[in-house]
Amino acid sequence: MSDSLIQDFLPAIPLPALLIDQTERIIAANPEAQTFLGQQITGRHFATILRQPPVIETIEKVLRDRTPRRTRHLSNDGVQETTYDVFCRYIPGIGAVQGGAVLVSFQDVTHLEQASQMRRDFVANVSHELRTPLTALIGFIETLRGAARDDPAARERFLSIMADESNRMNRLVGDLLSLNRVESEERVRPREKIDLSAQLADTLTSLRPLAEAAGVNLALNAPEEPVYVTGDTDQLRQVFTNLVENAIKYGGSGGKVDVVLTSSERDPAIRAAAARVQIIDKGPGIDPVHLPRLTERFYRADNHRSRELGGTGLGLAIVKHIINRHRGRLRVESEVGQGAVFTVILPA
Ligand SMILES: Nc1ncnc2c1ncn2[C@@H]1O[C@H](COP(=O)(O)OP(=O)(O)OP(=O)(O)O)[C@@H](O)[C@H]1O
Ligand SMILES: [Mg+2]
Repeated sequence: MSDSLIQDFLPAIPLPALLIDQTERIIAANPEAQTFLGQQITGRHFATILRQPPVIETIEKVLRDRTPRRTRHLSNDGVQETTYDVFCRYIPGIGAVQGGAVLVSFQDVTHLEQASQMRRDFVANVSHELRTPLTALIGFIETLRGAARDDPAARERFLSIMADESNRMNRLVGDLLSLNRVESEERVRPREKIDLSAQLADTLTSLRPLAEAAGVNLALNAPEEPVYVTGDTDQLRQVFTNLVENAIKYGGSGGKVDVVLTSSERDPAIRAAAARVQIIDKGPGIDPVHLPRLTERFYRADNHRSRELGGTGLGLAIVKHIINRHRGRLRVESEVGQGAVFTVILPA
């Protein structure tokens, strides 16, 4: 390949790419590489530009034995870390005295790195959440076999705790499966025509016993006529059940939970006809530091209390995905001491 051909060829590569010949100098760089590494890099020794030892070593090896290799380059602009896969391939017959050169190209793999980091965090979280009840179960089994063997009262008490712990594990697995299903369906638009008025009335009826047990006055405020949205009945029921349950569990000390349904021809949030459901409690509220992370998996504002109440911390993550699938919005407003308002906006 003539050197003028190189000048035409490199810009055609859609990734940052440069050529280093046997004199260890950069003989050509495409515009992407210049944006990435600097405008004046042609003619310089490559090690003054690519300073990371693994990258330098890899290029030296390929110049020596001509075997293609791959390595990693990490760059940090002070704000975020970017990870590149670096491909080094030998091209014979070009460069100084036609001795051949290494084509070095960079592929940004930051998103892949982030995805695998998220996967690792998720596995660590799930294992931790499962291990907590499991450890309790193992402990009680030991006690039942030993010290509590002939104590019927203790046996009864331990069995009841064991039942709670296994129920918690069961709920966790159920929620994980539910999250998985919701995520895999997220791109499929739901198609059922649903009357939210009727659905909310149903949901509240089934939660009334929980509200009564918590001393909470649960009230629905909805228009007389049906309010239709296009959605998935079971999933929307899951959304409102979790939000109302949360309001009772975490905001029940305020003594009342109101569910308010309204509809509008042009909702300002989505600039289209929509229904709004607000779940309002008068409990302790949520500290603003927690608000941005509330819908993350396993995130709990009050770790101790939520676990005590048997929560898995997956409820709002599931809610978020279901609302996304409906192309809707979830808003959370809260002031400490003033309660919390969760607003669901669903396109009609
Ligand atoms: N109305 C509320 N008032 C105060 N805190 C709330 C309210 N709703 C949610 N939270 C906080 O947000 C956290 C996350 O809620 P989420 O529904 O995701 O999990 P959970 O209720 O703990 O578990 P699950 O819903 O799976 O049983 C809760 O643990 C709680 O700390
Ligand atoms: Mg919940």
